Amino acid sequence: MRRHENKQTIITLKKKKKTGEKISAITAYDYPTAKVSSDAGIDIILVGDSLGMVLQGAPDTMKVTVEEMIYHTRLVSNAEPISMVVADMPFGCYHVSPQQAVENAIRFVKEGGAEGVKLEGGRKRFAAIDAIINAEIPVMGHLGLTPQSLHALGGFKMQGKVKEKADEILEDAIELEKRGVFAIVLESMPDELAGRISEAISIPTIGIGAGKNCDGQVLVFHDMVGFTDAYIPKFVRKYANLYSTIHDALRNYIDDIRSGNFPGDEESFHIKKQL
Ligand code: KIV
Repeated sequence: MRRHENKQTIITLKKKKKTGEKISAITAYDYPTAKVSSDAGIDIILVGDSLGMVLQGAPDTMKVTVEEMIYHTRLVSNAEPISMVVADMPFGCYHVSPQQAVENAIRFVKEGGAEGVKLEGGRKRFAAIDAIINAEIPVMGHLGLTPQSLHALGGFKMQGKVKEKADEILEDAIELEKRGVFAIVLESMPDELAGRISEAISIPTIGIGAGKNCDGQVLVFHDMVGFTDAYIPKFVRKYANLYSTIHDALRNYIDDIRSGNFPGDEESFHIKKQL
């Protein structure tokens, strides 16, 4: 495979932080969404374990497996996007030991085609992160609201509102940079804290529900194109309403079948031609 000249890597992303060019990231889970995201010029495609909720309809991400994540990472990397492909390591696949973490991270690269992996958490995860970076795999950090800590946090709650917790998150971000992490997702924290972190470190911060002071932003593809009529968090901006577009298309299709309007002459002609 020849690499596209606009291919995004840890180097191009770091340059963007240096020059102040904002970074665009999207969570996507398959070939068509990866293809359109890449064609539009998205910098990072995160194959997020949010697929447990968005694709599988689960209430949280806790049951997502390594096999499922590798499968979806492969669908995304098959699009050969110019975007950097980062795979989320799901709950339980890096918590047991550094060896477990590095073995699973290697699977994401070898079997899924990932160009980096994302792990949630700060100081408790440093050993796992060190092991993966030592295996030459780029690691993206994730601080603030870490959805895999759902039960330990007592729910999906904004983090870093009290000073002690905010200081801890800032310290973790600084230490993650020292350990060689190439970027950090900052999820659901006060704008002011995300701004302090972004100023304190020289690697990019990618915000979600963390305000405008981050070096980039990430949203879930299905949320931002309005692919669902279910609840979406307040910080999401909907750039399209695909749910109603698709709903209308399906209604028209059903009507056309029932009325005998589909297939029409044109479609029948194509079928005849193929035969
Ligand atoms: O799983 C995911 O999609 C994520 C992003 C929302 C950062 O972790």
